[in-house]
This record gives sequence, structure tokens and C-alpha cells, in this order.
Amino acid sequence: MNNETKAIIKATAPILKQHGEAITTAMYKVLFEKYPQTQELFKDASSDQHKKLANAVYAYAANIDHLENLSKGIEQMASVHVKTHVLPEHYPMVGDALLQAIKSVLGDGASDEVMAAWEEAYGFLATVLMAREKELYAQL
Ligand code: HEM
Repeated sequence: MNNETKAIIKATAPILKQHGEAITTAMYKVLFEKYPQTQELFKDASSDQHKKLANAVYAYAANIDHLENLSKGIEQMASVHVKTHVLPEHYPMVGDALLQAIKSVLGDGASDEVMAAWEEAYGFLATVLMAREKELYAQL
């Protein structure tokens, strides 16, 4: 991730944090409407799941220069994902839904540049998670 991308992420993260609940609510709506096959994975999800995913996205944004701070969180997310049978093919679906939700909340602020930065940031985090989950699945 280049410095420009990181700067955009840091500048827009507070706005997303402010609208955290709205973003995740919109995200799950898009996800389940567009990709109903993902709904099954969330059947045992706790009611605070929305907040957790939102928090993870902002924690990531806030720590974009210090990704080592996130290793504990990555480990926890990967372990829950493996327990709930999340697979690599699901990541583009969540990415699509999340980016659409971010776009609707940022409104006029959702320039091509800003959206490209978040797409890259999501892709980066997704890659880290998928790699760790692959290792965990192999150990089962
Ligand atoms: C970069 C992308 C993602 C992030 C940041 C993320 C983040 C999180 C976090 C923070 C949790 C809560 C872990 C805990 O309970 O301690 C979680 C749980 C979960 N995630 Fe993800 N996730 C991502 C991608 C995905 C994808 C692609 C799917 C599949 C559709 C998915 C499905 C789930 C499910 C089913 C749970 C467990 C819900 C429950 O039973 O409570 N996640 N995720």
C-alpha cells in the first residue's frame, strides 16, 4: 500500500467511524440480498456482530502504519472465520458489500480515489486473513 493510499484511509476513517453502525447495517443488507448464500454462515452470529466487523475495519484503518498491532485481532478473526466456515470465495462478496456501504455513507466524499484506496485496503486485510485461515484449515 503506498503512502497516498494510507493518507486517504487515515483521512476518511473518522468519517466511517462516526457512521460505523450505518455502514455495517447497509453492508449486511447488501451482502444478504446480493449473496444470499452467505446468510447461512451467520446463523449463530451474536447481535453485536455488526459492531465487531465495523470495529475491525476502523482498528485496521487507525493502525495502517502499525499493522503489527493487529496481529492479535487477525488471529481471533481467522479462528472465528474457520469455525464458521468462511472461505476465500466469500471475501469478494463481503468486499463488494462493504465498499458499496462505504460509498453510500461517504456520499459526495466517495471520489474514485477514495474508493480505490478502500478497495486496496480491504484487499490487503482480506489477503492477510485468507492466508492465516488457509493455514488453520490445513491443521484441522
Ligand atoms: C477483511 C474482511 C473481514 C473482516 C475485517 C472481518 C471481521 C470479523 C470480526 C472482527 C469478527 C468477530 C470475531 C469475534 O467474534 O471475535 C468476524 C466474525 C465473523 N465473520 Fe468476518 N470479517 C471479514 C470477512 C468475512 C467474510 C468474507 C465472511 C464470509 C461471508 C465473514 C463472516 C464472518 C462470520 C460468519 C463471523 C462469525 C459471526 C458469529 O457467529 O458471531 N467475515 N469477522
